[in-house]
Amino acid sequence: MNYEEKAKELARLVRAGDVVIFSGAGLSTESGLQDFRSKNGIWAHADPARLASVGALECNYDEFLEFYKARLYVPDEVKPNIGHKIVAKWEKEGCVKGVITQNIDRLHQRAGSVNVWELHGSLEPIKCHSCGKPGSNEDFLAGTPCKYCGGHLRPSVVLFGEMLPQRALEAADELSGSCKTFIVLGSSLVVSPANYFPRQAKMHGAKLAIVNLEETPLDGIADITVHEGIGAFLSDTEKYMRQQ
Ligand code: APR
Repeated sequence: MNYEEKAKELARLVRAGDVVIFSGAGLSTESGLQDFRSKNGIWAHADPARLASVGALECNYDEFLEFYKARLYVPDEVKPNIGHKIVAKWEKEGCVKGVITQNIDRLHQRAGSVNVWELHGSLEPIKCHSCGKPGSNEDFLAGTPCKYCGGHLRPSVVLFGEMLPQRALEAADELSGSCKTFIVLGSSLVVSPANYFPRQAKMHGAKLAIVNLEETPLDGIADITVHEGIGAFLSDTEKYMRQQ
């Protein structure tokens, strides 16, 4: 299939409903955020084990905080892009039944998506790493200790070495095991266990579509692969949905 045929086929699948969206950092680059593994991605210039792990938080807090503020924090002026908005529209129209995301930026929710499951947590709420009590974003960014116990404040993201949230894993399991179409948007699909869910969807008989600028390890099992920008491709898909 050529580009146009792929957009028409995806339009047909989305209109048929029971669609699950699986997103990665590549969906948010068109909002001005960096992804992780593109050639200029975050991990091209930083070691995740040294800067985004539990060890970094506990033993190297100042460096952890500086890295987080410089590279992971998403200020309010960062807005959802057309890709987030189309996904939210498809949920409102009853085509998309849920979103599984690896992203911590909450741009899906800010675009209007409701059934969103964050496998890697999210920036907020800020909490104390020692006592678990809430902290303010301002105190966290200023490096102010927990006002209850003096411990380190941290975001609610899943750091390397931490378990993924059980509820999100269960929801992702249920969604990927029961959908008719599973659409990957902007993920290199190299991080587990997140990259298990596209496989599970395929094993349960779903159609698998991957929209990603670069090749992924799962391209070989996908029914549709598109190595183009997400915003443009989803806009074209949306156009064909209106025509059919
Ligand atoms: N359109 C389509 N694809 C894009 C776009 C775009 N506009 N921008 C980037 N991409 C693609 C890149 O080519 C890359 O293959 O998105 C993919 C993003 O892959 P990663 O940077 O590896 O991000 P992700 O898959 O979300 O990483 C998973 O790794 O470090 C952890 O916790 C982190 O959640 C993250 C996880």
